[in-house]
Formats: sequence, C-alpha cells, structure tokens
Amino acid sequence: MDIAFIGLGKLGFPCAVACALKGHTVHGFDLDTALVDGYRRGEVTPFEPGLPEQYETCKARMHYCRTLDEAVSKADYVFVSVPTPHAPMHDGSFPYDGVARNFDNSIIERALVEVGRAIRNHAGDGRFRTVLVISTTTPGTMVNELGPATVRAAGRPIGDGWTMVYNPFFIGQSTVVRDFLNPEFVLLGVPQDEDGLVADNGRGEALARELYGTLHAQPVCPMTWTEAECVKLCYNTYLGLKVVFANTVMELAHKLPGVNCDVVNATLKLAKDRLVSPKYMDGGMADGGPCHGRDQMAMSYVAQKVGLTFNVFDLINHGRDAQTGWLADLIQRHAKGRPVVLLGMAFKPGTNQTQGSPAILLANILRNRGVEPVLHDPVIRPKAEFPHGPAIYFISTRWEQYKDFAFRPGDTVIDPWRMVTSVPAGVELVRVGGGDATDTAATDDASVLARTEAKPVGHLRAAS
Ligand SMILES: NC(=O)c1ccc[n+]([C@@H]2O[C@H](COP(=O)([O-])OP(=O)(O)OC[C@H]3O[C@@H](n4cnc5c(N)ncnc54)[C@H](O)[C@@H]3O)[C@@H](O)[C@H]2O)c1
Repeated sequence: MDIAFIGLGKLGFPCAVACALKGHTVHGFDLDTALVDGYRRGEVTPFEPGLPEQYETCKARMHYCRTLDEAVSKADYVFVSVPTPHAPMHDGSFPYDGVARNFDNSIIERALVEVGRAIRNHAGDGRFRTVLVISTTTPGTMVNELGPATVRAAGRPIGDGWTMVYNPFFIGQSTVVRDFLNPEFVLLGVPQDEDGLVADNGRGEALARELYGTLHAQPVCPMTWTEAECVKLCYNTYLGLKVVFANTVMELAHKLPGVNCDVVNATLKLAKDRLVSPKYMDGGMADGGPCHGRDQMAMSYVAQKVGLTFNVFDLINHGRDAQTGWLADLIQRHAKGRPVVLLGMAFKPGTNQTQGSPAILLANILRNRGVEPVLHDPVIRPKAEFPHGPAIYFISTRWEQYKDFAFRPGDTVIDPWRMVTSVPAGVELVRVGGGDATDTAATDDASVLARTEAKPVGHLRAAS
C-alpha cells in the first residue's frame, strides 16, 4: 500500500519505518528539511533502540517528498502526526498554575487544511484517500474544528473520494515501532454526520481495518471521533491518576513508621479481581457501602494527621459528593413538578445494606434541596407506594428487575447504569452518559462547552 506520513518526528518516523518494515511504500513529508535531509543520509534522529537497524533494512521503501501535496498525491492512506503542543510553561515541566488550557491546535489545523487542499487538487485521480489523524486532540476538536476545516479545504464532503479517521496511538516514547506493531487495540474514530449516521458509509473503518490487517491481528475498536478522543486522553490521564495514588502510598509510608511502600503497592497489585481489573470502571452511582465511603473519610483523616502533601482521599470524598449532586441536578431539571422516585436503596444489588449507600446519599442531597423522594427497593422496601400520576424514576441501585419496571406514559426514567434499553411509548428515557440523550439538560454541560468554543461549522455532508 502507498502510505503518506505528514510529520516525521518522534512518532511519525518510527511508525513510517514500521509500515515500511511490513512491505508498504512510504511517502514522507516534514516541514523540517534538515530533519528529512538527515533521514535521506540514513541518520535516524528519534532515539529508539533498534530503530537505525530497522530503518536500514527498509530504507528503500521510504521516499521523501518535497511538498505535502506530493506525498498526498501518491498515497491511499495519509497519516498526520504533527504536534499539538502546549506552551513550554504548561507541558508539565513547570508547576501547574491552576489555569487549565487546551492544546494549541494551530499546527494540526494548518497541516490538515493542506491535506484537504491536496485532496481537492488530486480529486478524480481514481484514488480513495483515507486521512488518519494520530495527533492528540481534546474531545470535540475533530468534530468542531479539524473535521470541518479539512472538509472545507477539500471542497467535497467526507465520503466523496476521501474520508477521515481519528486514530490516536497508545505508544511509549522510544518503543514506538514495537508498540505500533503490537498495540493493545486500535482506535478508529470514524466520522458521523449530524443524524448520527456514519458519514462515509463505513468506508474509513473498512479501509483502516484493511491497512491494520497487514500490520497485526490486534482488536480494532470503531467509535465516533469524539469517543476516540476521549479514550486517548482518558487512557493517559488514568495512568496519571494511578501514579498519584502510588505516590500517595509512598509518601504515606515515608511518614508512617514501619511501612514500606513497596510491600503495600506490591500487595495491592495482587488484587487482580477488583483493583487491577476491569471492575469498577463502568460509570454509575458513587462508590459506597459499609466500608468504602467511611474508609475514604478515615484515610483523609490519616492524610491530614501525617501531613500528606496532596490529600487524594479528600478529593475522592468531594468527588463522590459532587458527582451525586450532579445526578440530583439532573433529576431536578427533569422533574418539572413531578414527584421523584428513587428505585433502589441498597448500596449494590443483592444486598439489603444501606450503610454508605450512594442511593441514600442522593436521597439526602435531594432532601436538603427540599425534594422528598419516594424510596423503593425490591428487598428493603418492596411495598413503597408509587405516585399515581406521571413521575420521574431514577434507578439508584442496579437491581436487574428495574429493567422491566412498568413505566407509564408521562414518566421520565433516568438510568445512570444504562441498563434500560427500551421503554413504552410516551416514556422519556435518559441514559446518563449513554451518548444518546436527547434532553438539553444532559447536553448543556461539556458538549456545549465544546460547541461554544468551536468556530461555526457547516454540515459535514454539505460542505462547500
Ligand atoms: N511521541 C509519541 O510517542 C506520541 C505518542 C502518542 C501521541 N503522540 C502525539 O502525536 C503528535 C506528534 O508527536 P511527536 O512526538 O511525533 O511530535 P514531534 O514534535 O517529535 O514531531 C512532529 C513533526 O511534525 C512536523 N510538522 C509540523 N507541522 C508540519 C506540517 N504542516 N507538515 C509536515 N510536518 C509538520 C515537525 O517538523 C516535526 O518534525 C502529538 O500530538 C503528540 O501528542 C505522540
């Protein structure tokens, strides 16, 4: 296959080498002519053990183009791997000043506009081009900024001779070739039009699968552009969260006599059922039960007592309250005068325990705001009396039987577990975080932020 690489830096060059190692023809372009001249002479700039030797074996399949247009003209696939930097003061090398900042997208936008122009210039040459954006962008950037800018420059909608896939990598510095050829999974963010239909009729996904099928047999995960942006950044930031926690244990051990952090962390790592596992990663109600909430509170006390620099436990306490408070907001915004029913009181299904239950926390938050909810639970309070008229039902405990609850026209169901898949006609279903919420209440948070930050854009199908 003919593959263009726009940006031949620490990521782009080793990935290009990996493609050439697999027998593909690479057409590389980088604005940095000195860098490219070095590659031409056989000098491998990115530091990566084994890369010079690998390059030596596949150099004949790596071609360097004088212009971006030339690279795009020769390729079926166009990888774009240019920087999306922060100013040096905000890349993690200096203390965080408390002001959160987005990446600078100007470089990637300029590169993609040029890619779009090249697509326009070579339209009708018989090639269908798949642009694969690797650079890291924040959720909403592709759909609000980069996609529309590229469509405008290409002068034709996605699906008409070309398509665009957001394809971030999970790659460690200096092990790029190995990680690119042996990934945990491949993310394919595919374009959607405003109706939620795949704008290229699945062509981008099919072509990307074809390409990756020549590189390895690892799983491919198709999703929307914005979901792929979320996965990329949630992956990296989750690692940061783990490190903060491990370092909390280290500092705690340093301040508590007789504790070695390696003993504690090594033992925690043995907990493969719940700690180092996919469990507790679904999103729903807050963590709770007779142990967790109170343990977090107690550890927050220990942290204060020994003077931990950063009290992560306190953060968990506040996070638990804030996230439950947000669910209460959601209920109140939908209630519109209707009574509120909480379905479930136990802290988890299969128990009658309510101590530390997030359902009870939610009930208490609502009560503090003057809303007295009806509480039902199939074990604890099965005979609770439901309102006679339309009501708002919130599934506060993930009991299976609530899936088939007899909701009636005029009711609203708020489901933070996304367990209810269908409701009778006339019932509004809000699947919290399910990506299919139709209510403005659910979208007036993050996604509106993304929309208001964005430049006005046209419909991806109807681009001029
Ligand atoms: N390095 C990694 O392991 C890694 C891993 C995952 C994601 N990423 C992301 O990939 C992107 C690129 O990272 P990197 O580490 O390779 O950056 P880098 O700075 O090492 O390389 C980027 C290259 O792009 C070139 N460039 C800039 N504008 C260009 C244009 N218009 N046309 C052609 N070339 C252009 C630059 O000259 C540079 O050589 C970033 O968004 C980064 O966050 C990097």
